[in-house]
Amino acid sequence: MPERIIAGNWKMNTTLGQGKTLAQGVADGLTTSDVTVVLCAPFTHLATLKAMLPSSIKLAAQNCSQYEKGAYTGEISPVMLADLGIEFVVLGHSERREYFHEGDSLLAEKVKAVLEHGMRPIFCCGESLAQREAGEHLDFVREQLTNALFDLSAEQFAKVVIAYEPIWAIGTGVTASSDQAQEMHALLRAHIATRYGKDVAAATTIQYGGSMKPDNAVELLACPDVDGGLIGGASLKPEDFLAIIGSYPS
Ligand code: PGA
Repeated sequence: MPERIIAGNWKMNTTLGQGKTLAQGVADGLTTSDVTVVLCAPFTHLATLKAMLPSSIKLAAQNCSQYEKGAYTGEISPVMLADLGIEFVVLGHSERREYFHEGDSLLAEKVKAVLEHGMRPIFCCGESLAQREAGEHLDFVREQLTNALFDLSAEQFAKVVIAYEPIWAIGTGVTASSDQAQEMHALLRAHIATRYGKDVAAATTIQYGGSMKPDNAVELLACPDVDGGLIGGASLKPEDFLAIIGSYPS
């Protein structure tokens, strides 16, 4: 059974003070240890949050460079993140793909860099509304995985978390139905099996992301192939984020 992982993607929100209050609210209200809880905080918050949070709450960066060091002004390297004890790095979020022109070959390099430094990528994939309406969504998302991940060894791939985030559902209040999520997740698991075998596929965590809220989390998380969530807006309120964590079927 895959590890259940609920991650809060804060995006470019919160000052350090607000982030500390938010993280403390999550830490204080967390009652389950059945779910791995990850906070994807801005770079500027990571060292402070690492020092104050219990080890049961994991931290993620929202991006990282493919390079280790050098003349790359403005970049943050995997060496720097690993040095802070950061466990996960979100890669390939649709906002990074769209606004910062990150494509699959760059993401393949970033995935390798993160793994080489002992951290785990949360690799985001997902189709646009136009692709879904044209019936191209299944092939498109499969290709995203093939292009960015399928050069990895099975041992490396076993550390990767997949987040399926249909672009039309991100920040829109429109969520995928549980049938739509289950269809894509099952397809991705089958696709992973063609490359890495059934056992690796069965153990891969595939999160759903896109307008997951307390009132739809129960249904989405009950899907057999949905192993957690990547939560944006609702992760900025401790009570909503905790309610989503609490809605995981035990
Ligand atoms: P949302 O964002 O929950 O606000 O739709 C999800 C994400 O972008 O990771």
